[in-house]
Amino acid sequence: MLAAGYVGLVGRCSETEAYLTGFGCEFTSEDERCPGALPAGQNSPQTCPYGLYAEQLSGTAFTAPRALNKRSWLYRIRPSVTHKPFEPIYETASRLVYEWDAIHQTPNQLRWKPFDVPARQAAEVDFVDGLQTICGAGDLRARQGVAIHVYLCNASMRDKAFYNADGDFLFVPQLGPLLITTEFGKIRCEPNEICVIQQGMRFNVTVFGPSRGYILEVFDDHFQLPELGPIGANGLANPRDFKTPVAWYEDRDTDYQIVSKYQGKLFVAEQDHSPFDVVAWHGNYVPFKYDLDRFMVVNTVSFDHCDPSIFTVLTCPSRKLGTAAADFVIFPPRWSVQEHTFRPPYYHRNCMSEFMGLIKGQYEAKEESFHPGGASLHSIMTPHGPDARCFEIASNCTLKPERVADGTQAFMFETSYNMAVTEWAMKLSNKLDNDYNKCWRDLKKRFDPNAKPVSTVSSDP
Ligand SMILES: [Fe+2]
Repeated sequence: MLAAGYVGLVGRCSETEAYLTGFGCEFTSEDERCPGALPAGQNSPQTCPYGLYAEQLSGTAFTAPRALNKRSWLYRIRPSVTHKPFEPIYETASRLVYEWDAIHQTPNQLRWKPFDVPARQAAEVDFVDGLQTICGAGDLRARQGVAIHVYLCNASMRDKAFYNADGDFLFVPQLGPLLITTEFGKIRCEPNEICVIQQGMRFNVTVFGPSRGYILEVFDDHFQLPELGPIGANGLANPRDFKTPVAWYEDRDTDYQIVSKYQGKLFVAEQDHSPFDVVAWHGNYVPFKYDLDRFMVVNTVSFDHCDPSIFTVLTCPSRKLGTAAADFVIFPPRWSVQEHTFRPPYYHRNCMSEFMGLIKGQYEAKEESFHPGGASLHSIMTPHGPDARCFEIASNCTLKPERVADGTQAFMFETSYNMAVTEWAMKLSNKLDNDYNKCWRDLKKRFDPNAKPVSTVSSDP
């Protein structure tokens, strides 16, 4: 856990977006058009500079321990409360799923071909309308669990903002960049970057063509950097590489829709102005993005495997000590140097659920039929591992230092929850690969009780 008081720096990344750097920092930011918009020395003065309203956004209980406490103060043209009443949006109820009892439970290995992005000629589909739940578990009302969605869209959100009252979204774009306008400023998120928009933060998504990506939603807590233990003070995802947008506002009086996801259902409220009217803000409850190429990979340089937890970018803790509600894990380009070792991932049964996706390239353990924009799910205690072809090659090849995963970015959402799978993912999407299990069919019995054991360890007699 990073100490409060770590101060970020401004770095201008393009003509339109600028960022503060650091993770878990106490940031301050003013739109440069209004210098002095942040009240000096107090959060809630009798009157705020420029006639702004002060509004606190709380990300943890007021009384959460100081190291965990998250909140930000927003100084805005109108407070968020200035909207008409929310009304349910019934027609979208079937795409986002949070009722897990009536849908598919299966211990089978599952794999999906790339999910289709709707053609723009057929219909304009924006980010909110293009959300589809794949799987999930838990209880939104008890704030415990996860959901995994994909977004499949082709149009920008226009004058519509979205917020999630239920938890945090971790975006993994796979096709097409996203320009995410938030109350804190603008974030451009390209494939091979990720972005986290936390509970309650209002945002709008602009796309630039067909767009596809994955979303990990967590209800328990917020994402943190994993502990480093003996690795030391540096490594994996370094705090300095996380970017939070600088304040940006628009003073636009127009019909605007606020879409709320509340207890898994969607509601919409009308208001007469843009909600992106925050002129200045300060605090440590903020959206952020991260470039996956910045990940410093740690791995064995002798033999065997470290567990894939060494590839954890972000983790959301559960209430069970040392156990994540969900981890976001990547398998980035790196050197593979292990001696006398079967180098691909080991065969595995896990007390956690493993959902994998592919941003680009080819995943090393299964080069066939796992494509960018597709996915796989190996649920709790479901066996999985390299396919027959991978096993054969890796068991017989000459081991020398080599690059693996160049041009590839596979990732995993690993959760301690036992997820059910939606009707859309199992049937309606038509993307479930019914032949997946066959990739292990050719793993033959190799056992020979008469074969003399061969030692591969040089120090053995
Ligand atoms: Fe696994």
